[in-house]
Amino acid sequence: MSYRKDSDSVELGECTRNPGYKDADGDGPAARDNISVSDSEEKRDSIGVKRLSDARDEYTQIKPYAGMPKEVLVLYSSKARYRVPREILFWLTVCCTLALVAVTIAVIALSPKCLSWWQASPVYQIYPRSFKDSDGDGVGDLKGIKEKLDHFEYLNIKSIWISPFYRSPMKDFGYDVEDFRDIDPLFGTMKDFEELLATMHSKGLRLIMDFIPNHTSDRHRWFNLSRTRDPHYEDYYVWTDCKPDGPKPNNWVSIFGNSSWTYDEVRGQCYLHQFLKEQPDLNFRNPDVINEMIDIIHFWLDKGVDGFRMDAVKHMLEAPHMRDEPQVDPNKPPELVTTEWDLHSDYTTSQVGLHDILREFRAQMDIYSQEPGRYRFMVIESYDYEEVYKTMMYYGTKLEKEGDFPFNFYLLDLPQNTSGAWAKHLVHLWMGNMPKGKWPNWVVGNHDRTRISSSAGQLYVRAINMLLLTLPGTATTYYGEEIGMENINVTASQIQDPAGKYNTSASRDPQRSPLQWNANMNAGFNDKTNLTWLPLHPDYETVNVEAQMKDDGSVLAQYRFLNTLRQSELPLNRGWFCYVHTDANVFSYIRELDGLKRAFLIVVNFGKESVVTDLSSVRELPDELKVLMSTNKVNDGKVFPKSRIQTEVGEGLVIQYSTNTRFNPNHPEECYISEKACYLETIGILYKCQ
Ligand code: GLC
Ligand code: MG
Repeated sequence: MSYRKDSDSVELGECTRNPGYKDADGDGPAARDNISVSDSEEKRDSIGVKRLSDARDEYTQIKPYAGMPKEVLVLYSSKARYRVPREILFWLTVCCTLALVAVTIAVIALSPKCLSWWQASPVYQIYPRSFKDSDGDGVGDLKGIKEKLDHFEYLNIKSIWISPFYRSPMKDFGYDVEDFRDIDPLFGTMKDFEELLATMHSKGLRLIMDFIPNHTSDRHRWFNLSRTRDPHYEDYYVWTDCKPDGPKPNNWVSIFGNSSWTYDEVRGQCYLHQFLKEQPDLNFRNPDVINEMIDIIHFWLDKGVDGFRMDAVKHMLEAPHMRDEPQVDPNKPPELVTTEWDLHSDYTTSQVGLHDILREFRAQMDIYSQEPGRYRFMVIESYDYEEVYKTMMYYGTKLEKEGDFPFNFYLLDLPQNTSGAWAKHLVHLWMGNMPKGKWPNWVVGNHDRTRISSSAGQLYVRAINMLLLTLPGTATTYYGEEIGMENINVTASQIQDPAGKYNTSASRDPQRSPLQWNANMNAGFNDKTNLTWLPLHPDYETVNVEAQMKDDGSVLAQYRFLNTLRQSELPLNRGWFCYVHTDANVFSYIRELDGLKRAFLIVVNFGKESVVTDLSSVRELPDELKVLMSTNKVNDGKVFPKSRIQTEVGEGLVIQYSTNTRFNPNHPEECYISEKACYLETIGILYKCQ
């Protein structure tokens, strides 16, 4: 290789020109020629090293230029002025990345869980016989439901529970199941079901099915095999010896009245039925029965259903000793002991082992919940009245999950004594007893109970919906409540409900009339023929979905507004719930979230007179309060001084206000939350603040 020295540059063979070369101290490449090669090996080595470092020095004096050979570039870039910043930048990047990862982990760990679908939207109950009849036979069906899914989009409701549509002889309108894996032809076909489910999912709606573990129909295959003593099915039901005309095995009574034992001629024994005699109780002490039920759960989860409402679970086990239950009135003659109210149901409900079975069901559902975004929900039906602690057990424990919640039926008792104090008492029955960290829920109607609009009176319908949608937790709405539908009158000859055939006053027909869609023929429920399985309510010409959609002061419009508000406002959907004031008329509470300035005051008048409420002692409230929404539309936007909040009978107010002072830190005894959350307004994130 040859090179030529010149004042500004050096030529490196034919390779590259380096315009920046300078042999500043005469230690340039030319000097290398003078090195003797006749020294000893050792010296040669040291010379070799020296040559290398010389070369490094030489090249690093060259100004960088485009297309520099890699070797030179490497030597050049190892100069301190490049190396040091490079290393600083490198370590800075490493540190920032680590810090980012740490912050991300911390944010995830500190964030409260996102609300799941069953928490975010109300659960709307469809009684399929009465929702929409697509084929004109007078009974609602699955295709009818599919036709009307827009109703839920309009209302902003995402969770739909459909009462049973299994194949059934319809003695209890589907709660007597003949085949758990089939659809009753009255409601449609399996294809109709699959189409309905697929359409619902495509619209972001979830389908909750009724699951009826306690009993089957007496026409179920298992029952036929059991009464003929097929070895596998012999113990599928609860059998005991008795004589055809002799005394019953014990004093146990059916929920629908009279003995819960019926003699079966085929088997020559009595079987237990805690409901109708056509609904024999399954024997959950037989592990095969549990496994059958688990298979059925799998069957529907595999089809993609999003959850189950577990029917009448407290009746699943009975005491094996079958002793008489203690009478409520020990002096009552035994032959007059015919209703569930006559006995303490100590041996037929809530037996030890029940929760283990439900937790096993839950565990099966949890396997399916592992699929991302497909949480499977479980709600429990159990009426335990004054024994609230029994209801709360269905929430499970910290270690073992059970129901996401048991239905909270306490508000159904509101009409017993419609007043502010009673409303608070009922709300507090739940809030004061719910295990910490659990999610509340509220029911104001279902297919078993008188419509609250009829028992409490139309005057309170809007206020009740306001309560339902502003309390913490999941609201349940029975079809028709969104428009304030009332019970119908059913004459003795019109009675359909078997419970009503036993006892007219127990008939559940009045709350099951067809949904009033419009003012047309059959209220739009059946627009093909003149059939409806129950009469329509005569008020359908004015009380119907279509008419109320056009009126922004309607029950429907207010339901929609409150439901949308609740889902868009963090304090309402997951914030603190604090009692502020209660008296004979008014029940008032605050919904707020730590860190968020916007909060809501709700004032509802459940009383018998219009009142002025003085909240001037609540120093966390601003002096002036502006009504965001009143159940009486003319009061929307009204401003009250906090010392004079006026409400009429049945009027509810949602007041939105701004504050820097939260109510909950000063009143911990008055406030409830399922998970304490704070809000960082600057970046808009929620985090666990304690
Ligand atoms: C539940 C249902 C009710 C039914 C009973 C028997 O309580 O809500 O309608 O009659 O169980 O299955
Ligand atoms: Mg049972």
